[in-house]
Amino acid sequence: MTHTTSTAAAVPVVKPDEMRAWSAFVHKVSGIFLDPSKTYLIQTRLADLYRTTGAGDWSDLLRRVQMDPTGRYRNQVVNAITTNETSFFRDRTPFDLLRHKLIPDLIDRRRREGYKRVPIRIFSAACSTGQEVYSTIIMLDELLGDLLKYDLQIAGTDISDQAVAQASSGVYSPLETGRGLTPAQVNRYFQTVNGGFKVRDNYRFMASFRKANLLDPYAVSGSYDIVFCRNVGIYFREEERRILFRLMASLLKPDGALIIGSTESLTGFCPNLEAKRHLRSVYYQRKTGTSATHSPASGKILISSTR
Ligand SMILES: C[S@@+](CC[C@H](N)C(=O)[O-])C[C@H]1O[C@@H](n2cnc3c(N)ncnc32)[C@H](O)[C@@H]1O
Repeated sequence: MTHTTSTAAAVPVVKPDEMRAWSAFVHKVSGIFLDPSKTYLIQTRLADLYRTTGAGDWSDLLRRVQMDPTGRYRNQVVNAITTNETSFFRDRTPFDLLRHKLIPDLIDRRRREGYKRVPIRIFSAACSTGQEVYSTIIMLDELLGDLLKYDLQIAGTDISDQAVAQASSGVYSPLETGRGLTPAQVNRYFQTVNGGFKVRDNYRFMASFRKANLLDPYAVSGSYDIVFCRNVGIYFREEERRILFRLMASLLKPDGALIIGSTESLTGFCPNLEAKRHLRSVYYQRKTGTSATHSPASGKILISSTR
């Protein structure tokens, strides 16, 4: 019997026990859960790594990845296994929510509190290649005009260093800008580079990106007005989803808002948050009189009543 696929002749088929070991490894390094039906993901997305390392079988490749002191193979596995699907203004409604409700309300509140140059802090968790971050900057520029009048900082993180590198460069193909941006927006916010488009520096500097595993209790911290955490929990099992969303809740300022994916739910995960609705959008805010503190040492989020 030849254990080969038709598309990758030199690469053997992943056997069930090998898949179990790979699934445990991927779960350990990323939280992503791959059940046996996802064997094809290991088989196809790691085929190049298999060939370049000259591994003898899938268990041997896993050994090499685990023992690589540079961590390079591990990064390659994470880059290959993560699904970085995203687009500009993905799902539209969160950006309408920001434009028509959350940002105007935030600015009003801060002005009442006495701020002249209003601070706006936004976090995009699992930002992939950065489209969510740049969509937010474009929306804010369209809404507010001169953004330099505001103290705006938008941070994006992702576990894939390849995705983070593209986000930091701000360079997109015409196919990518065509997904969600109008020609007028491309013209205004991008310059042309080598057959693609690069976010203009005067907008790009408002964003910062770095690599972070959202399940690593030491990897993310801060205090934000808006936290996006969309379409990453869908790759996790319930336990990791609970850790993820509780961590996100702990990153909110007392009046901050958490926005999750359109198919996702927080039910049962964050007792200190309540769902609020505006037109067709849902977002989450702290219930009055509750707080959430993140303890990196224990990895636990302590939710308490402040009443
Ligand atoms: C489908 S994309 C979603 C991108 C964006 N949030 C959106 O909704 O358009 C999922 C992203 O989650 C990232 N990811 C997966 N596991 C992660 C983890 N444990 N920590 C941080 N990012 C992770 C992947 O690298 C990928 O870029």
